[in-house]
Amino acid sequence: MGLALFLAYFCIIQSGLTQVNIKETKIWGPGLEPDKIVMPARYFFVELAGCTGPEECDANSAQGDLEVKIDGITEQRTPCRTWINILNRKDGFYIVRYKVYVTCIDLKISVLYRGKHVAASPYISNGIVLTDECSCPKDDLENTMKIWGCGGTPLLVRNKLNQFAQIDWTQLRTKVIKTFDKPHSVSICHYIIKDNTAYRKCYGKYVGFNMFMDSILLSLTRKTKLPDLEMFVNLGDWPLAAHNLPEKYPIMSWCGSHDTYDIVMPTYDLTESTLENMGRVTLDVFSVQGNTKSLFKNRIPMLFWRGRDSNKHRLDLIKISRKHSDLINASMTNFFFYRDQQEEYGPKTDYISFFDFFDYKYQLAIDGTVAPYRMPYLLAGGSLVFKTDSKYYEHFYPDLEPNHHYVPVNTDLSDLVHKIKWAMVNDKEAERIAKNGQHFVNDNLTPKNVFCYYMHLLNEFSKKTVSRVDIFDDMELVNQTKVIQCDCAMDVDKMRKLIEKNKKEHQYYVHEAEEL
Ligand SMILES: *[C@@H]1O[C@H](CO)[C@@H](O)[C@H](O)[C@H]1NC(C)=O
Ligand SMILES: *[C@@H]1O[C@H](CO)[C@@H](O)[C@H](O)[C@H]1NC(C)=O
Repeated sequence: MGLALFLAYFCIIQSGLTQVNIKETKIWGPGLEPDKIVMPARYFFVELAGCTGPEECDANSAQGDLEVKIDGITEQRTPCRTWINILNRKDGFYIVRYKVYVTCIDLKISVLYRGKHVAASPYISNGIVLTDECSCPKDDLENTMKIWGCGGTPLLVRNKLNQFAQIDWTQLRTKVIKTFDKPHSVSICHYIIKDNTAYRKCYGKYVGFNMFMDSILLSLTRKTKLPDLEMFVNLGDWPLAAHNLPEKYPIMSWCGSHDTYDIVMPTYDLTESTLENMGRVTLDVFSVQGNTKSLFKNRIPMLFWRGRDSNKHRLDLIKISRKHSDLINASMTNFFFYRDQQEEYGPKTDYISFFDFFDYKYQLAIDGTVAPYRMPYLLAGGSLVFKTDSKYYEHFYPDLEPNHHYVPVNTDLSDLVHKIKWAMVNDKEAERIAKNGQHFVNDNLTPKNVFCYYMHLLNEFSKKTVSRVDIFDDMELVNQTKVIQCDCAMDVDKMRKLIEKNKKEHQYYVHEAEEL
């Protein structure tokens, strides 16, 4: 009897384990086309099929079950050196990222689940695979967007540029400089792109943030031929082109608002995490997904928040959390704007890892000085995001649907407690909205989406511009600092001949992919 029970139990476990359907498992993403799409870190998604619920997928996907191997060959006939990073979300969903360090051909990506190829694995690229440090712009911008599969023009790019019938810098240039050359309150840079090279002159006291704009422009000019272009980029958080100014100014800004004309770009934060994916930046939309400790159902049903005192409603939050300490765990990590009220709203607490925010079921996106730039990472974490109503927005907010991707709350937080209680009672619905938010991130805020948004933006902006583009004498060259020597004219046939030539020196090549 005991043995029979044990055997039955054993069989159930066994069948559970073999439920992953190898053929139905889905693999997709730009990292499967490394010969067409060059990025700092290439990536693709793996979604296991055959598990009927998160528990089952969770049980199925033990650490190390999914294996990825990347093989290829360099012209020296050595193995293609790569670095692979597998992020396991523990719900049957994985993000695989990899970096390629040298130009390779015959790149073969094998995705194995318990030793068996899944989906259409192995994925083989027939073209040449360049590293991100190669400066090899081949196609014009529109063709590059086609090759990348960038889709249609984003809603916000269209809306923002429709505010302007045309952009004539001969009319606007000196007015913009005159209006915004306020060194103590505004930092703004005048950029020219000419023959796929960037130049700039900055105005203001704090222009260090031009490095983010420089970096994205340099990265784009390594990948595509940008059209000639003139623009002004606001380096501060507050949008500048107020509706009540005498003229409409097409200024580029990281953040938009309902009372300004500024044309909105992805924030410097999201831009940097795109350019430094698997690099110097550790917080990005992928790392969050791979570093949460538990599934939604096992998270603490409380709202968790940490941040600085950059908005008076954040003080309100502290007050509410004290009254409802069973629902909200919130505290300031720093006092600066309301230092005189530290006594009342303190004490400040230590920083905790952003990944640990997701030990909790509910998160809050509340404005600081402007929109909370952590919004993409909050959505990525898979908890339910409450977002306060605000006139400020990031480039993707118009695509977010309230009560589908997040739960809206009043600016003054007056309905926050009520909505947390709603979420506790409606746990399944809360989980569904949380999942939709996470899904939105993987569809709209990945590195490819950020590159595509910039490409669309610059393309539409240049189409609207009617003035001639000339470099001004007092502008600085924005120099490529990261490039390595690459033979951009190399094609697969030429490379094969080189490999053949090098055959004598190297007998064979072995697989040498590292895994972290
Ligand atoms: C609030 O969260 C922190 C960090 O997770 C934790 O150490 C602390 O005990 C929590 N406080 C309450 C009252 O739950
Ligand atoms: C740009 O950088 C390269 C190498 O880093 C250097 O050789 C070149 O002189 C620089 N050009 C300018 C104009 O600074």
